Amino acid sequence: MQPRMQHRRLAMTLGAILAATLLSLAAHAQSGQTVWTAEQDHQNMMDQLGIQALRPGPSGDEKAPNHANYDEQQANPYPNLPDPLTMSDGTPVTSAAMWRERRRPELLDLFSEYVYGRVPAKVPPVKWSVTAVDHERIGFTPVLVKDLIGEVVDKATPGIVVKMHMTLVTPSQAKGPVPVLMMFGRAGFPAPNEPSPEEMERINAAWKKVLTQQDASLAAVFAAHPAWQMVKPTPFAFPQRNEDGDLPNTWQLVAAGWGFALFDPTSVQADDGAGVRQGIIGLVNHGQPRTPEQWGALRAWAWGASRGLDYLQTDAAVDARHVGIEGVSRYGKAALVTMAYDERFALVLIGSSGKGGATPLRRNFGEAVESLTGGEYYWMAGNFMKYGASAASFGSRTPGDIPVDSNELLALCAPRLTFVSYGIPAKGDARWLDHQGSWMATIDANRVFTLLGAKGLDISGDYHTAKMPPVNEGHLDGVLAWRQHDGGHTDAPNMKYFLLWADKWINHQPPQ
Ligand code: GCU
Repeated sequence: MQPRMQHRRLAMTLGAILAATLLSLAAHAQSGQTVWTAEQDHQNMMDQLGIQALRPGPSGDEKAPNHANYDEQQANPYPNLPDPLTMSDGTPVTSAAMWRERRRPELLDLFSEYVYGRVPAKVPPVKWSVTAVDHERIGFTPVLVKDLIGEVVDKATPGIVVKMHMTLVTPSQAKGPVPVLMMFGRAGFPAPNEPSPEEMERINAAWKKVLTQQDASLAAVFAAHPAWQMVKPTPFAFPQRNEDGDLPNTWQLVAAGWGFALFDPTSVQADDGAGVRQGIIGLVNHGQPRTPEQWGALRAWAWGASRGLDYLQTDAAVDARHVGIEGVSRYGKAALVTMAYDERFALVLIGSSGKGGATPLRRNFGEAVESLTGGEYYWMAGNFMKYGASAASFGSRTPGDIPVDSNELLALCAPRLTFVSYGIPAKGDARWLDHQGSWMATIDANRVFTLLGAKGLDISGDYHTAKMPPVNEGHLDGVLAWRQHDGGHTDAPNMKYFLLWADKWINHQPPQ
């Protein structure tokens, strides 16, 4: 190549890079994007709220000097939970109609304003498309798998595109539409269908041909190892069983004649404060920071699950009247929030959800409100940060000031099928989660199930004195159910109980 031409090439390349950089800068400028850390975003919200200082959260390390409280005697500094059956103005809620027409909307409004945040009025529509269909086998069950992308675009925010990822799996031999459990976690093909042995042989022959064309000396190598193949079938592996020796949730579900949908929350909104000006929250805000009443990640994940349900309602393989939502840990919180807000979900399996989920915010045991206003702030509305403030233009606030609590969030699931699941600390379902607190909230929520005419828990009582049932003792007779299994930070050991319980209530027969 001539030196002059080389120069021209270089100049063209540099020009192209410069143009691309300018374009991307313009896109970022349009969407208001400069890179921010989670700390900067957290500080921005503190500034918006007029907060000078937050109380620090406790340490999750039980040996650290500032570890969380684990003394039950000190766990109830605000001993009374807000009453789900009393309106904010003090009027008692005395009928199912009054719950539906007045109290439920009031509670949702309070949770939105002060805890999880509001979904902005104008969120662009989601365009779902099936990107690939695969015929697979999960265990012994043949399944049909559809991989889906739900795209959200906003012309005013060209720098941000949201592509929600969901994978729908239904048993291929089902006689009709099946109940489906949507599960928060990674999406993708569970057991990709592979080429047949004959097809693999053809692929291997083609590979060898191409490689020998590239490097003729490889012919001798291939001849010396005639039985060796480059592309091989994935060896059969037994699935990893849970602590109770049961098969994975997905295996159990399809064997029981259920479908499942894997829904990736992080494809809606990052699990990171640095991502708040991106994802669906950033897209709607044109890349600007949130205002204090706007949605946090938990509400955004729940919104995404609802959009996933919009798609499921259009799919003939799905019994859309019986779609459940499931998650563990932070996704257990998200599952509960999803169920509370969207009445189209018929069931929920809330796995080890803890603070921000089933356990009362007012309790001081393990994870604290101060954890949720510190490093985990982006899960919540900005407004929630006020309850961790020690110095602010409005003075200071405490968890006791939060107008609602988790007993009411659970009550918002009534009268639908609600299963609260935990494991045990000895196996890793840490005390941090406050199992006893969740039991208290569940017992209190039960009153709303009863008011609505649903068969609730088979235990009732006052949450102040309620004692958590022993490990492995399921309370599964009513639509509100509780079981603490003897495994770890997972809901897998409860899956078989969940399926029996759900099948009974929705009148679904597993295939023979
Ligand atoms: C942390 C966090 C919990 C959360 C958990 C998880 O422990 O404090 O709120 O549930 O992570 O999601 O694994």
